[in-house]
Amino acid sequence: EAIEKGGFEHFMLKEIFEQPRSIADSMRGRVRADEGHLRLGGLRDYVDRLAASERIVIVGCGTSWHAGLVAEYIFEELARIPVEVEYASEFRYRNPIIQERDIVIAISQSGETADTLAAIELAKSKGATIFGVCNVVGSSIARATHAGAYTHAGPEIGVASTKAFTAQVTVLTLMALTAAHKKGTLSETLFRQLLAEMEHIPALVDQVLQKAEKVKEIAYIFTYAKNFIYLGRGLNFPVALEGALKLKEISYIHAEGYPAAEMKHGPIALIDEDMPVVVIATKDSSYEKVVSNIQEVKARKGRVIAVVTEGDEQIRSMVDFVIEIPKVHDILMPLVSVIPLQLLSYYIAVMRGRNVDQPRNLAKSVTVE
Ligand code: AGP
Repeated sequence: EAIEKGGFEHFMLKEIFEQPRSIADSMRGRVRADEGHLRLGGLRDYVDRLAASERIVIVGCGTSWHAGLVAEYIFEELARIPVEVEYASEFRYRNPIIQERDIVIAISQSGETADTLAAIELAKSKGATIFGVCNVVGSSIARATHAGAYTHAGPEIGVASTKAFTAQVTVLTLMALTAAHKKGTLSETLFRQLLAEMEHIPALVDQVLQKAEKVKEIAYIFTYAKNFIYLGRGLNFPVALEGALKLKEISYIHAEGYPAAEMKHGPIALIDEDMPVVVIATKDSSYEKVVSNIQEVKARKGRVIAVVTEGDEQIRSMVDFVIEIPKVHDILMPLVSVIPLQLLSYYIAVMRGRNVDQPRNLAKSVTVE
């Protein structure tokens, strides 16, 4: 087992550190930015249908559902196709409206999640076209779909999903770019620019991983916190949900993720000097709004850990701790901003003496209802 862990103390840490490679693997043979080339072989016969679709419904559970929320923003922004994201477990039991023209994208690392599989069967029976985004080749979900793209992240052993999430987001972004390019909702210049930035993501993720020691120091300070709040806006909102889920799963600390502006509609009542608040506050279109949200938290003595864009002095002067990440196009931000949150949850769980790779009550794939 020590050999399988490749010198890391846990599979989860190994998988976090594998992300520069696993993200590159998800793009391998699919992207050549210098040639403006993007090709998802598994969708070959379905590109026209995807580009012409009037609605996409995404189904998944847990972390895969979070990847779906990221994809919702990206598909709508780039391809101007309306997207709905559903928990597979809700979708399957509520007689959803699905039409033959709809495309349903099922996201699953294991490809064996019972609720996601049942959601696919239901959508299929209503005539929709089903795409899969799976990590495990030949899995039940991969076999049940009409077409799809594997994430190629390699085996994920840690129960808490890390590299599978970034691989899912990578592949879903490639799908959205494929649709937008075909549809003509994206200029050739921006298309090529985004492909080039995607090719650069593994190097940026590597830069964030170099900050692990800094994240560890923050984890030490908050090891015994009883609650955490995670805030983000836009594409960083699903990242906030994912950060909170990671912390809950492996450290057993109660954590909630919210869109930052929703705070004043309730959760702000929870803020006091004992409440750590992780804010993903990168320089994007909602930056100024997030700055005001941080002020609201600080005014109530909350302790703020902010994930910021390199060189951001404004937020540094307002908060308790900052973790800097490199600048990247807004659309690609989740691939970089999720990394420090994965590390934070990992180090807190280790410091609390938790069984990081196999947390209590959880299974790697949920094959029963
Ligand atoms: C993620 O850290 C969780 N262990 C869990 O939420 C997981 O993402 C969910 O069960 C879905 O699994 P799947 O991707 O294999 O379908």
